[in-house]
Amino acid sequence: MARTAKLTFEDRSIDLPVVEGTEGELGLDIGKLRSSTGLITLDPGYGNTGSCTSEITFIDGEKGILRYRGIPIEQLAKHSTFVEVAWLLIFGKLPNRAELDDFRERLVRNASLHEAFKHHFEGFLVDAPPMAILSAMVNTIACFPRHGEQDESPEERFIEDAAQLISKVRTIAAHSYRRSMGLPFIYPDPKLPYVANFLHMMFSMPYDTHHASPEVVDALNLILLLHADHEQNCSASTVRTVGSSLANINASCAAAIAALWGPLHGGANMAVLEMLEAIHKGGVSAADAIKMAKEGTDGFRLMGFGHRVYKNFDPRARILKAAADKVLGQLGVKDPLLDVARQLEEMALEDPYFVERKLYPNVDFYSGIIMRAIGIPTNMFTVLFAIGRMPGWIAQWKEQRDDPKSRIARPRQIYIGANENDYVPIDQRP
Ligand code: ACO
Repeated sequence: MARTAKLTFEDRSIDLPVVEGTEGELGLDIGKLRSSTGLITLDPGYGNTGSCTSEITFIDGEKGILRYRGIPIEQLAKHSTFVEVAWLLIFGKLPNRAELDDFRERLVRNASLHEAFKHHFEGFLVDAPPMAILSAMVNTIACFPRHGEQDESPEERFIEDAAQLISKVRTIAAHSYRRSMGLPFIYPDPKLPYVANFLHMMFSMPYDTHHASPEVVDALNLILLLHADHEQNCSASTVRTVGSSLANINASCAAAIAALWGPLHGGANMAVLEMLEAIHKGGVSAADAIKMAKEGTDGFRLMGFGHRVYKNFDPRARILKAAADKVLGQLGVKDPLLDVARQLEEMALEDPYFVERKLYPNVDFYSGIIMRAIGIPTNMFTVLFAIGRMPGWIAQWKEQRDDPKSRIARPRQIYIGANENDYVPIDQRP
């Protein structure tokens, strides 16, 4: 028999259907709540609100579980690549060889930007925030229809749009970095795989091709793969909210990039490094920083600590901590900021304030350290996160588009403003 939960309010009562997910997660279906009782729910930050059902990513925050399409993140981190994971997330299964080859070929074909993009880049100041450039440029892609796009079937159009976004976001990112440094753009090399091609566009010089070491390529592949999706977080919810109005996929992903930018979301990886640098340069000890975070001095928080969902450990952080130790060892990096990071981590993990609130290092804590070690400038960290998250946004956008029950996102509110009162002419106002 279908399970229900009874809600009674004054003289009215309603049986709310209980929905169960494939991993036993339970939710109340409140679709009839307002029409039956006149009530709405109030849940700032949506901590208790499921906005959709989804088959893409499963997280158990208490147990530290993260799975893409059912496959544990640890297995994907060990055996897969970012491009294969992108296919998995978007199309719901691991690709066979022909499918993966076809997708790779599409990524190669879609890597370059229309030459007119040069003018768009020139319109930005050289020190413009790269996330602003990325969001604007991702939106701009849709303004340049592909040759023959009007004749593509809906399936073909979607896969080309997806390949275009995943491939071009990397080119835009690299070009924005080159422009910020006053360096000439380096065009994508069709012979290079995804990550190596990105590093080539970032760091090659005319007549001096940059050859990234396999350790660096692997580390970046891992970072992108671990960021590829994380169910209904701030930016994924943004993709769905914007997409629910039937906005195109580029506009929806551009909005997600804006959502990711903030320091409480993707911007945290930059904030971690800035915090470590400030502590190091300012002569503030790790113990002082912990004290400031506990006292909330000037709103200070330990960046890279805490997570809305993970309350024991972040499985991505665990994988990246091991990767950070490995890649820094391989590259022989000696970094004073790493010592600060280790001290903070050790002290916070033993401090009752952090233990009681279940505040553990999250993925951004270690990804920032690795990216710094492999030469990615700090102001590009969140851009790297956006490159990694693009397949997840595309998968979320597609799932919503294909869901017959999907409706335009339109929350309600409890109004707490002034009651009706009259307009007062300006000369009669106090
Ligand atoms: N440092 C110090 N105290 C913290 C921290 C922190 N990093 N994070 C949370 N707290 C404290 C809060 O002050 C609060 O304390 P109180 O109960 O005494 O009031 C308690 O822990 C709960 O905090 P909330 O803000 O309610 O937790 P929420 O789930 O809303 O926020 C968040 C999660 C945004 C990640 C938060 O922990 C934070 O700001 N962390 C730092 C930023 C960061 O690293 N963000 C990256 C998130 S991961 C990602 O986006 C990939």
